[in-house]
Amino acid sequence: MSFAHRHLLGIEQLSPADITAILDLAETYVALNRQSAKHSDVLSGLTQINMFFENSTRTQASFELAGKRLGADVMNMSMQASSIKKGETLIDTAMTLNAMHPDLLVVRHPHSGAVDLLAQKVNCAVLNAGDGRHEHPTQALLDALTIRRAKGRLHRLNIAICGDIAHSRVARSNLILLGKMENRIRLIGPPTLVPGQFAAFGAEVYDDMREGLKDVDVVMMLRLQRERMDGGFIPSEREYYHRYGLDRDKLGLAKADAIVMHPGPMNRGVEIDGTLADDINRSVIQEQVEMGVAVRMAAMELLARNQREAA
Ligand code: NCD
Repeated sequence: MSFAHRHLLGIEQLSPADITAILDLAETYVALNRQSAKHSDVLSGLTQINMFFENSTRTQASFELAGKRLGADVMNMSMQASSIKKGETLIDTAMTLNAMHPDLLVVRHPHSGAVDLLAQKVNCAVLNAGDGRHEHPTQALLDALTIRRAKGRLHRLNIAICGDIAHSRVARSNLILLGKMENRIRLIGPPTLVPGQFAAFGAEVYDDMREGLKDVDVVMMLRLQRERMDGGFIPSEREYYHRYGLDRDKLGLAKADAIVMHPGPMNRGVEIDGTLADDINRSVIQEQVEMGVAVRMAAMELLARNQREAA
Protein backbone atom coordinates (compact mmCIF):
# COMPACT_ATOMS: atom_id res chain seq x y z
CA MET A 1 0.00 0.00 0.00
CA SER A 2 1.63 3.27 -1.02
CA PHE A 3 0.58 6.68 0.20
CA ALA A 4 3.20 9.24 -0.73
CA HIS A 5 2.15 12.23 1.34
CA ARG A 6 3.69 14.05 4.27
CA HIS A 7 0.44 15.75 5.32
CA LEU A 8 -3.29 15.33 4.85
CA LEU A 9 -4.33 18.85 3.96
CA GLY A 10 -7.12 18.21 1.48
CA ILE A 11 -8.74 15.76 -0.90
CA GLU A 12 -7.44 17.89 -3.77
CA GLN A 13 -3.93 16.40 -3.41
CA LEU A 14 -5.08 12.75 -3.27
CA SER A 15 -5.35 10.31 -6.18
CA PRO A 16 -8.14 7.73 -6.43
CA ALA A 17 -5.53 5.11 -5.39
CA ASP A 18 -4.66 7.15 -2.25
CA ILE A 19 -8.35 7.38 -1.36
CA THR A 20 -8.82 3.64 -1.81
CA ALA A 21 -5.70 2.93 0.27
CA ILE A 22 -7.08 4.94 3.21
CA LEU A 23 -10.53 3.35 2.97
CA ASP A 24 -9.15 -0.19 2.74
CA LEU A 25 -6.94 0.30 5.77
CA ALA A 26 -9.87 1.94 7.61
CA GLU A 27 -11.92 -1.23 7.09
CA THR A 28 -9.48 -3.12 9.29
CA TYR A 29 -10.00 -0.51 12.01
CA VAL A 30 -13.79 -0.73 11.76
CA ALA A 31 -13.37 -4.36 12.79
CA LEU A 32 -10.89 -3.53 15.58
CA ASN A 33 -13.17 -0.79 16.95
CA ARG A 34 -16.02 -3.27 17.31
CA GLN A 35 -14.01 -5.54 19.59
CA SER A 36 -13.89 -4.99 23.31
CA ALA A 37 -10.08 -4.75 23.24
CA LYS A 38 -9.47 -1.95 20.75
CA HIS A 39 -5.77 -1.37 21.16
CA SER A 40 -3.08 -1.37 18.54
CA ASP A 41 0.45 -0.05 18.92
CA VAL A 42 1.12 1.40 15.48
CA LEU A 43 1.53 4.93 16.88
CA SER A 44 3.19 3.81 20.09
CA GLY A 45 5.80 6.32 21.27
CA LEU A 46 4.45 9.06 18.98
CA THR A 47 2.93 12.32 20.18
CA GLN A 48 -0.26 13.69 18.67
CA ILE A 49 -1.40 17.24 19.40
CA ASN A 50 -4.94 18.35 18.56
CA MET A 51 -5.22 22.12 18.05
CA PHE A 52 -8.82 23.20 17.56
CA PHE A 53 -9.28 26.93 16.98
CA GLU A 54 -12.99 26.35 16.27
CA ASN A 55 -15.59 24.44 18.24
CA SER A 56 -15.89 20.76 17.55
CA THR A 57 -17.52 17.82 19.25
CA ARG A 58 -17.34 14.79 17.01
CA THR A 59 -14.24 15.61 15.00
CA GLN A 60 -12.10 16.34 18.04
CA ALA A 61 -13.41 13.34 20.00
CA SER A 62 -12.88 11.14 16.97
CA PHE A 63 -9.26 12.22 16.42
CA GLU A 64 -8.56 11.83 20.13
CA LEU A 65 -9.97 8.30 20.29
CA ALA A 66 -8.25 7.35 17.04
CA GLY A 67 -4.85 8.39 18.40
CA LYS A 68 -5.41 6.70 21.76
CA ARG A 69 -6.53 3.44 20.18
CA LEU A 70 -3.34 3.41 18.13
CA GLY A 71 -1.22 3.94 21.22
CA ALA A 72 -0.11 7.56 20.66
CA ASP A 73 0.29 10.09 23.46
CA VAL A 74 -2.54 12.51 22.68
CA MET A 75 -2.78 16.08 23.91
CA ASN A 76 -5.75 18.36 23.29
CA MET A 77 -4.90 22.05 23.24
CA SER A 78 -7.84 24.24 24.14
CA MET A 79 -7.04 27.12 21.85
CA GLN A 80 -9.56 29.44 23.52
CA ALA A 81 -7.53 29.20 26.69
CA SER A 82 -4.11 29.41 25.06
CA SER A 83 -1.80 32.32 24.28
CA ILE A 84 -3.83 33.01 21.15
CA LYS A 85 -6.01 35.08 23.45
CA LYS A 86 -2.93 37.09 24.32
CA GLY A 87 -2.35 37.88 20.65
CA GLU A 88 0.22 35.24 19.73
CA THR A 89 -0.07 34.42 16.04
CA LEU A 90 -1.07 31.04 14.67
CA ILE A 91 2.45 30.51 13.38
CA ASP A 92 4.09 31.40 16.72
CA THR A 93 1.84 28.91 18.49
CA ALA A 94 2.63 26.24 15.93
CA MET A 95 6.36 26.87 16.20
CA THR A 96 6.17 26.64 19.99
CA LEU A 97 4.41 23.29 19.82
CA ASN A 98 6.75 22.13 17.06
CA ALA A 99 9.69 22.64 19.42
CA MET A 100 8.16 19.98 21.68
CA HIS A 101 8.60 17.41 18.86
CA PRO A 102 5.08 16.26 18.12
CA ASP A 103 4.75 13.67 15.36
CA LEU A 104 1.18 14.44 14.33
CA LEU A 105 -0.56 17.78 14.50
CA VAL A 106 -4.34 17.84 13.96
CA VAL A 107 -5.57 21.36 13.24
CA ARG A 108 -8.97 23.02 12.81
CA HIS A 109 -9.04 26.73 12.02
CA PRO A 110 -11.74 29.21 10.92
CA HIS A 111 -9.61 30.61 8.06
CA SER A 112 -9.34 28.83 4.73
CA GLY A 113 -5.68 28.11 3.99
CA ALA A 114 -4.48 28.48 7.60
CA VAL A 115 -3.71 24.78 7.98
CA ASP A 116 -1.70 24.66 4.73
CA LEU A 117 0.33 27.65 5.92
CA LEU A 118 1.01 26.00 9.25
CA ALA A 119 2.11 22.77 7.57
CA GLN A 120 4.90 24.68 5.83
CA LYS A 121 6.35 25.77 9.17
CA VAL A 122 6.52 22.54 11.17
CA ASN A 123 8.49 19.28 10.87
CA CYS A 124 5.69 16.88 11.72
CA ALA A 125 2.73 15.49 9.79
CA VAL A 126 -0.26 17.87 9.74
CA LEU A 127 -3.86 16.71 9.37
CA ASN A 128 -6.48 19.25 8.40
CA ALA A 129 -9.54 18.86 10.63
CA GLY A 130 -11.37 21.64 8.74
CA ASP A 131 -10.15 25.06 7.56
CA GLY A 132 -12.81 27.71 6.97
CA ARG A 133 -14.84 26.92 3.87
CA HIS A 134 -11.91 25.19 2.22
CA GLU A 135 -11.45 21.49 3.05
CA HIS A 136 -12.33 18.86 5.64
CA PRO A 137 -10.62 15.81 4.17
CA THR A 138 -11.28 13.27 6.92
CA GLN A 139 -15.00 14.08 6.78
CA ALA A 140 -15.11 13.36 3.04
CA LEU A 141 -13.16 10.12 3.62
CA LEU A 142 -15.50 8.95 6.35
CA ASP A 143 -18.47 9.81 4.16
CA ALA A 144 -16.89 7.83 1.32
CA LEU A 145 -16.37 4.79 3.55
CA THR A 146 -19.97 5.01 4.77
CA ILE A 147 -21.26 5.17 1.18
CA ARG A 148 -18.99 2.34 0.01
CA ARG A 149 -20.23 0.07 2.81
CA ALA A 150 -23.91 0.95 2.33
CA LYS A 151 -23.92 0.78 -1.48
CA GLY A 152 -21.20 -1.79 -2.08
CA ARG A 153 -19.27 0.59 -4.34
CA LEU A 154 -17.99 4.16 -4.56
CA HIS A 155 -18.41 4.89 -8.26
CA ARG A 156 -21.25 5.57 -10.70
CA LEU A 157 -23.65 6.62 -7.95
CA ASN A 158 -26.05 9.57 -8.11
CA ILE A 159 -25.31 11.69 -5.08
CA ALA A 160 -27.18 14.82 -3.99
CA ILE A 161 -25.46 17.32 -1.70
CA CYS A 162 -28.10 19.64 -0.29
CA GLY A 163 -28.33 22.93 1.55
CA ASP A 164 -25.69 25.42 2.61
CA ILE A 165 -23.04 24.49 0.08
CA ALA A 166 -21.52 27.97 -0.10
CA HIS A 167 -20.18 27.89 3.46
CA SER A 168 -19.36 24.21 3.63
CA ARG A 169 -15.89 22.66 3.61
CA VAL A 170 -17.68 19.31 3.91
CA ALA A 171 -19.43 19.91 0.60
CA ARG A 172 -16.22 21.04 -1.07
CA SER A 173 -14.15 18.03 0.05
CA ASN A 174 -16.97 15.65 -0.83
CA LEU A 175 -17.44 17.20 -4.24
CA ILE A 176 -13.78 16.71 -5.01
CA LEU A 177 -13.60 13.16 -3.62
CA LEU A 178 -16.82 11.87 -5.15
CA GLY A 179 -15.91 13.46 -8.47
CA LYS A 180 -12.48 11.77 -8.46
CA MET A 181 -14.23 8.44 -7.90
CA GLU A 182 -16.48 9.09 -10.92
CA ASN A 183 -19.87 9.64 -9.36
CA ARG A 184 -22.60 11.96 -10.67
CA ILE A 185 -23.12 14.81 -8.26
CA ARG A 186 -26.07 17.14 -7.88
CA LEU A 187 -25.94 20.26 -5.75
CA ILE A 188 -29.31 21.32 -4.37
CA GLY A 189 -30.07 24.58 -2.60
CA PRO A 190 -31.22 28.18 -3.01
CA PRO A 191 -29.02 30.17 -5.44
CA THR A 192 -27.74 32.26 -2.50
CA LEU A 193 -26.22 29.11 -0.97
CA VAL A 194 -24.99 27.35 -4.13
CA PRO A 195 -22.37 29.52 -5.79
CA GLY A 196 -22.14 29.12 -9.57
CA GLN A 197 -18.42 28.26 -9.46
CA PHE A 198 -19.28 24.86 -7.98
CA ALA A 199 -20.76 23.79 -11.31
CA ALA A 200 -17.19 23.98 -12.61
CA PHE A 201 -16.45 20.81 -10.61
CA GLY A 202 -18.77 19.00 -13.01
CA ALA A 203 -21.84 18.96 -10.77
CA GLU A 204 -25.42 19.66 -11.81
CA VAL A 205 -27.08 22.46 -9.86
CA TYR A 206 -30.76 22.42 -8.81
CA ASP A 207 -32.74 24.99 -6.85
CA ASP A 208 -35.84 22.79 -6.88
CA MET A 209 -35.14 20.05 -4.34
CA ARG A 210 -37.87 17.77 -5.66
CA GLU A 211 -36.35 17.88 -9.12
CA GLY A 212 -32.85 17.31 -7.79
CA LEU A 213 -33.67 14.32 -5.60
CA LYS A 214 -35.19 12.23 -8.39
CA ASP A 215 -33.55 8.80 -8.47
CA VAL A 216 -30.53 9.60 -6.36
CA ASP A 217 -28.74 6.86 -4.39
CA VAL A 218 -27.39 9.12 -1.65
CA VAL A 219 -28.83 12.27 -0.04
CA MET A 220 -26.23 14.25 1.87
CA MET A 221 -27.70 17.06 3.98
CA LEU A 222 -25.69 20.01 5.30
CA ARG A 223 -26.14 22.27 8.29
CA LEU A 224 -27.11 25.90 7.74
CA GLN A 225 -23.85 27.51 8.88
CA ARG A 226 -25.16 30.68 10.46
CA GLU A 227 -21.78 31.53 11.95
CA ARG A 228 -20.40 31.97 8.43
CA MET A 229 -23.33 34.06 7.15
CA ASP A 230 -23.31 37.82 7.35
CA GLY A 231 -26.68 38.65 5.89
CA GLY A 232 -29.96 37.37 4.51
CA PHE A 233 -29.07 34.12 2.80
CA ILE A 234 -32.44 32.55 3.56
CA PRO A 235 -35.94 34.05 3.96
CA SER A 236 -36.84 32.28 7.26
CA GLU A 237 -36.09 28.89 8.77
CA ARG A 238 -39.70 27.85 8.30
CA GLU A 239 -39.65 28.72 4.61
CA TYR A 240 -36.24 27.07 4.24
CA TYR A 241 -37.50 23.84 5.79
CA HIS A 242 -40.50 23.87 3.51
CA ARG A 243 -38.35 24.16 0.37
CA TYR A 244 -35.05 22.52 1.32
CA GLY A 245 -35.63 20.53 4.50
CA LEU A 246 -35.43 16.75 3.99
CA ASP A 247 -38.60 14.97 5.09
CA ARG A 248 -40.14 11.63 4.11
CA ASP A 249 -42.18 13.18 1.37
CA LYS A 250 -39.18 14.63 -0.47
CA LEU A 251 -37.06 11.54 0.23
CA GLY A 252 -39.80 9.55 -1.55
CA LEU A 253 -38.50 11.00 -4.84
CA ALA A 254 -35.06 9.43 -4.39
CA LYS A 255 -34.42 5.73 -5.05
CA ALA A 256 -36.30 3.41 -2.70
CA ASP A 257 -33.00 2.36 -1.08
CA ALA A 258 -31.42 5.83 -0.98
CA ILE A 259 -29.45 6.57 2.18
CA VAL A 260 -29.60 9.79 4.21
CA MET A 261 -26.38 11.38 5.49
CA HIS A 262 -25.49 14.43 7.61
CA PRO A 263 -22.03 15.34 8.96
CA GLY A 264 -23.48 16.82 12.15
CA PRO A 265 -24.21 18.87 14.09
CA MET A 266 -27.82 18.78 12.86
CA ASN A 267 -30.45 21.47 13.08
CA ARG A 268 -33.49 19.24 13.43
CA GLY A 269 -36.53 20.80 11.79
CA VAL A 270 -34.37 23.25 9.80
CA GLU A 271 -32.54 21.14 7.21
CA ILE A 272 -33.79 17.68 8.22
CA ASP A 273 -36.78 16.09 9.89
CA GLY A 274 -35.69 14.72 13.27
CA THR A 275 -37.48 11.38 13.03
CA LEU A 276 -36.04 10.74 9.57
CA ALA A 277 -32.54 11.47 10.88
CA ASP A 278 -33.12 8.83 13.58
CA ASP A 279 -34.64 6.21 11.25
CA ILE A 280 -32.01 3.48 11.11
CA ASN A 281 -33.58 2.05 7.96
CA ARG A 282 -32.78 5.18 5.97
CA SER A 283 -30.26 7.24 7.92
CA VAL A 284 -26.57 6.32 8.16
CA ILE A 285 -25.69 9.31 10.35
CA GLN A 286 -24.49 7.12 13.24
CA GLU A 287 -22.40 4.98 10.86
CA GLN A 288 -20.74 8.16 9.65
CA VAL A 289 -19.60 8.85 13.20
CA GLU A 290 -18.38 5.27 13.58
CA MET A 291 -16.46 5.40 10.28
CA GLY A 292 -14.88 8.69 11.37
CA VAL A 293 -12.74 7.01 14.02
CA ALA A 294 -11.61 4.25 11.66
CA VAL A 295 -10.74 6.63 8.82
CA ARG A 296 -8.72 8.87 11.15
CA MET A 297 -6.83 5.85 12.50
CA ALA A 298 -6.00 4.84 8.92
CA ALA A 299 -4.91 8.34 7.86
CA MET A 300 -2.68 8.76 10.91
CA GLU A 301 -1.12 5.34 10.44
CA LEU A 302 -0.23 6.06 6.79
CA LEU A 303 1.30 9.44 7.63
CA ALA A 304 3.25 8.03 10.57
CA ARG A 305 4.66 5.27 8.36
CA ASN A 306 5.94 7.84 5.89
CA GLN A 307 7.54 9.83 8.68
CA ARG A 308 9.33 6.78 9.99
CA GLU A 309 10.62 5.98 6.52
CA ALA A 310 11.83 9.56 6.04
CA ALA A 311 13.63 9.61 9.42
C1 NCD B 1 -18.76 19.96 9.96
C2 NCD B 1 -17.65 20.98 10.04
O1 NCD B 1 -17.21 21.34 11.12
O2 NCD B 1 -17.23 21.39 8.98
N1 NCD B 1 -18.94 19.20 11.09
C3 NCD B 1 -18.13 18.13 11.33
O3 NCD B 1 -16.93 18.19 11.21
N2 NCD B 1 -18.74 16.99 11.68
C4 NCD B 1 -20.01 20.51 9.43
C5 NCD B 1 -20.69 21.61 10.17
O4 NCD B 1 -20.15 22.25 11.06
O5 NCD B 1 -21.85 21.85 9.83
